[in-house]
Amino acid sequence: MSRQIFVTTALPYANGNFHVGHIMEYIQADIWVRFQRMQGHQVNFVGADDAHGAPIMIAAEKAGKTPQQFVADIAAGRKPYLEGFHIAFDHWSSTDSAENHALAQEIYVALREAGLITVRPVEQFFDPEKSMFLPDRFIKGECPKCGAKDQYGDSCEVCGAVYSPIELKNPYSALSGATPVRKTSDHYFFKLSDPRCMEFLQAWTQDGRLQSEVANKIAEWFTKDESGEGGLSDWDISRDAPYFGIEIPDAPGKYFYVWLDAPVGYLASLKSYFAHGGPKARHGDARTFEEYMADPAVEQVHFIGKDITYFHTLFWPAMLKFSGRKLPTQINVHGFITVSGEKMSKSRGTGIDPLKYLGLGMNPEWLRYYIAAKLNSKVEDVDFNPEDFVARVNSDLVGKYVNIASRCSTFIHKYFDGELAQLAAADEGKLQEMIPLQAVISRETGIAEAIDKREFGKALREIMAAADEINQYFDTAKPWELAKDSAQHVANSALHEVLSACLEGFKYLTLFLSPILPEVTRRAFDFLGFDMPLSWAERRQPVSTIRKYEHLMTRVDPKMLDALFEPPVPPVVEAPKPGGGNKAPMPPEGEHLALGRPGGEEIAPTITIDDFVKVDLRIAKIVNAEHVEGSTKLLRLTLDVGEGRTRNVFSGIKDAYNPEDLVGKLTVMVANLAPRKMKFGVSEGMVLAGSHADEKANPGIYVLEPFAGALPGMRVR
Ligand code: 2FM
Ligand code: ZN
Repeated sequence: MSRQIFVTTALPYANGNFHVGHIMEYIQADIWVRFQRMQGHQVNFVGADDAHGAPIMIAAEKAGKTPQQFVADIAAGRKPYLEGFHIAFDHWSSTDSAENHALAQEIYVALREAGLITVRPVEQFFDPEKSMFLPDRFIKGECPKCGAKDQYGDSCEVCGAVYSPIELKNPYSALSGATPVRKTSDHYFFKLSDPRCMEFLQAWTQDGRLQSEVANKIAEWFTKDESGEGGLSDWDISRDAPYFGIEIPDAPGKYFYVWLDAPVGYLASLKSYFAHGGPKARHGDARTFEEYMADPAVEQVHFIGKDITYFHTLFWPAMLKFSGRKLPTQINVHGFITVSGEKMSKSRGTGIDPLKYLGLGMNPEWLRYYIAAKLNSKVEDVDFNPEDFVARVNSDLVGKYVNIASRCSTFIHKYFDGELAQLAAADEGKLQEMIPLQAVISRETGIAEAIDKREFGKALREIMAAADEINQYFDTAKPWELAKDSAQHVANSALHEVLSACLEGFKYLTLFLSPILPEVTRRAFDFLGFDMPLSWAERRQPVSTIRKYEHLMTRVDPKMLDALFEPPVPPVVEAPKPGGGNKAPMPPEGEHLALGRPGGEEIAPTITIDDFVKVDLRIAKIVNAEHVEGSTKLLRLTLDVGEGRTRNVFSGIKDAYNPEDLVGKLTVMVANLAPRKMKFGVSEGMVLAGSHADEKANPGIYVLEPFAGALPGMRVR
């Protein structure tokens, strides 16, 4: 039975280019979509930019653009990524579209009519200079727990404390620097605490459609703790003007919070695709968007990252349910992508820049293959390991898969004019019994099931096991030996059968790999004599005459990986030359040379030598360095300053160093700093490091290392 499936990926914020995390999700969804299509199912696969919200409005203002122009410029840059990695969305829209404005308002009105909207006053920080309420991320101040300066309004990056912005000491607006004032305004809430919502969500999230770890996590959210807290709170869905968003009907000056209209963007993009006649042109579906969505047979499938599970498994289904719409059939949650086991950091150059990858001439299908090989249906992070990447691609794709075609084609062209043995016709079933065919046909159901369940890694292990069997069969049959006998150069000889069976097997491997490697398999099908890639139902069509073999895929050169991970070169800004008048260009933001403000800040007021000697600086040996669980910034260092004991020091250098690279090195520490109690333990000193005052614009942190010969415990003076 042919399925009808509406598929989406999370809508990316329109204030930045795609990073490799986006690309991983799109590759996952694209593989699944291509597989369903190959099975003969009818799929509509759409995306859109998530255009609204305060951060985008503020970024647009900074860039001197209207928010509309700003998001349009970002959208214009999407194509090279999507085309580059063969990600074939049917349609791409924006949450600022007319369709989304209308749909978000319709859904809201339906929720209001269902009695699920309530209005309550909320007190928030307000920037008197900008005349706007400040989102948490735009309020900074001192941590109420540890006193660290310049912390965000929601959590402290030094001690890890989580709090409300109102608790910050000496708060200031990150937009204007002004001291924010507290101000109350009416906010609109979606009453998720309503028993109808609770009852529905408790049942719906536990009915088996969600991944088990996701369902279990949600069950925890519903469980009340000892204080009786728990369950769902009402959700604040409004923001006050000025806000880049969708106006709330009958509520002047109020806009939907971006997360209200973002998922509606899934429906709006599909609606826009229907309005453009997409489904009619693609699969002759002449229905309207409304008719399509009203069809209970249509499945709605979302691919998302684990960080936005809450929105998609609670808020979104509740919005749909109580506005009388179709509910998601699947919400497929994936983990993050890490690089060599670490969260990516752009400043350290550990991330993979997708356009740099393509620009280096790296094959997008290597990445598709590698990501697929690492993906399963669980919410696990996927690690990109450069050595493993080179090894897998070279050994599996080039050494196993492509190898079969290249080693068979020369013989077939040389002795058989490109024609394969007509085994199937001469002796029905004979070919099927040969090892290469057994290898693929015995696995085809398992492979199809695995891909459908998003167990891509499992499917690829099976596919490569089949490729191994085919190659072993070839090695054992030794066609190069058989070919020495000219009696073998005739149709349907043993030589001809061996080669034909291997190429038939190769055809199946090509079919199995086609959702993952659409381009190389398209060329492989062409080599096998098919003008179009085969669908699953056509897989028994025999190969009759092969075409000229053109190289299908090159090996990865490990040097490419070195180039990929080379950190970006910081911009060099020339200082204005004397006598250059006022013609010297203004240093751009993120400058490194600012006269009078080296490293981005003034030299501190003069001190005396007596002041300096109060600070006891010592050479310290880093005897151990490790990650701190739960901290995104800190490393835990064990330091030896020659005291006959070691010290525990937390240092905010996680972004800049791998712990293993630090162990055994010497550095300089402040040895007489009062011990500080932090969330993760007591810190007994401080390691010295250089950094720019504006670390965001000028990333990089450099731990001090003494010249050779220094010993732990020596005083630095
Ligand atoms: O987390 C994000 O990047 C959001 N822009 C995802 C939105 S998904 C959907 F709701 F639109
Ligand atoms: Zn703190």
